[in-house]
Amino acid sequence: MDINKSLVIVGAQWGDEGKGKVIDYLAEQADLVSRFQGGDNAGHTVVYGANIFKLHHVPSGILNQGTLCLLGNGMVVNPLVLVRELTELEKRGIDTSNLRISSRAHLIMAYHQALDEANEKMLGENKIGTTGRGIGPTYADKALRRGIRAIEMTDPRRFRNKLAEVLPLQNRILQNVYGAKSFELDQLMELYTPVLERLGPIITDTALLLQRNLADGKRVLFEGAQGALLDIDHGTYPFVTSSSTVSAAAASGTGLGPGYVSRVLGILKAYTTRVGSGPFPSEDTGEAGQQLRERGNEFGTTTGRPRRCGWFDAVIAGYAARINGLTGLAVTKLDVLSGLDTVNMAVAYRCRGEEIREFPVSNEELQFCEPIYETFSGWDEDISRAKTMQDLPDAARTFVRAIEETVGVKVELVSVGPDRAQTIVIPGSRVAGWIGSKS
Ligand code: GDP
Ligand code: IMO
Ligand code: MG
Repeated sequence: MDINKSLVIVGAQWGDEGKGKVIDYLAEQADLVSRFQGGDNAGHTVVYGANIFKLHHVPSGILNQGTLCLLGNGMVVNPLVLVRELTELEKRGIDTSNLRISSRAHLIMAYHQALDEANEKMLGENKIGTTGRGIGPTYADKALRRGIRAIEMTDPRRFRNKLAEVLPLQNRILQNVYGAKSFELDQLMELYTPVLERLGPIITDTALLLQRNLADGKRVLFEGAQGALLDIDHGTYPFVTSSSTVSAAAASGTGLGPGYVSRVLGILKAYTTRVGSGPFPSEDTGEAGQQLRERGNEFGTTTGRPRRCGWFDAVIAGYAARINGLTGLAVTKLDVLSGLDTVNMAVAYRCRGEEIREFPVSNEELQFCEPIYETFSGWDEDISRAKTMQDLPDAARTFVRAIEETVGVKVELVSVGPDRAQTIVIPGSRVAGWIGSKS
């Protein structure tokens, strides 16, 4: 096993850190890219030249033609959305014949989406602010052992039987608990039958495929979705997603042992954003937050919602480094900070008079936490064409170095714009090694 042939990419904040951009950049040197958790709640943007791709299900590696792209067993897949995404990509000239879906991945069905929406409506002010994609109900059904797995799609008769088995209960919940509309078996079959034909042939045992490729010395990227603070166990529960978003999930979510997922690159924005409800200590609801939203174009890739914005928070970044075992950092959107007089970084919290540096477990406790900011000088230069760290103004370099020091993990890559080309790789870093050693 050569552990340098696999690299896990995870979000180290609340999602939307720029994972899509970094994965696309590193995918050129990968033979395979595999998602391992989440579903189409993810919105990963890849930009090159005038092309903008917003990917929800398909791994960001698909744009590097020839890369084998896998949807792992830890994922939940909406077959209708996936087919739409594939059709869209094909229309734009992207070859999607290299995509495979794990037979063990669970299917997001129309009733899951209805349940997600109905549940959020019922929660009212206390809603999670989900993406409305049916993620929670699908993972709940998986845990309750009444989900439908992708393998059922390979045989229309089995798919119908399975649906007939689970639908009555789903309908009872929709009607009796939420007063929502129920679904007809025949109508659902009409909706799903063309999709079975399209996806059936690409459903396979991806764990076996991956294992064989690794044994052949192939290079694999694991594409995380969401971020550490949205993790079902380690995030700001209940304001989280329903999957395990941390690096360890890359093993169980693809069917590998832990040895293959020990190199972990954490993606961090040079500031912080969050979509949906829940605690966000360094949020700035004033002018600074507004400025970050406008400059960073912080509107959700999946739902279009304005993202909540605030300063870089080294407490959550340090926490993300710990629970993920981060071995390197990629700092994105540094260019967005250009033109600010000063730039803040939360280095600790003051909580009931006490200074803390470890992220608290309870949301109640977080309500009493105020960030302690260190203020850095800003810079005016446009840095979006910088190719090396030496091209950056001193103040920008100082800020990146401060991230590295407070989080305690080396920065290996700095992103200064959405385009593939707007990327600085730190010489001598593992990421530099990854880029320099295509087999
Ligand atoms: P993901 O979910 O982590 O893949 O991130 P999203 O794609 O949802 O959001 C990141 C957004 O920032 C996208 O619109 C990217 O095109 C954009 N982006 C990524 N890196 C940079 C960067 O370094 N600078 C700027 N200005 N935009 C970036
Ligand atoms: P990427 O991969 C940002 C958030 C939702 C909500 C919570 C639960 O693009 O970084 P869900 O639909 O998963 O049940 O919603 O999680 N959320 C994300 N926020 N980026 C994402 O994905 C997200 N996926 C889910 O806004 O707060
Ligand atoms: Mg996103």
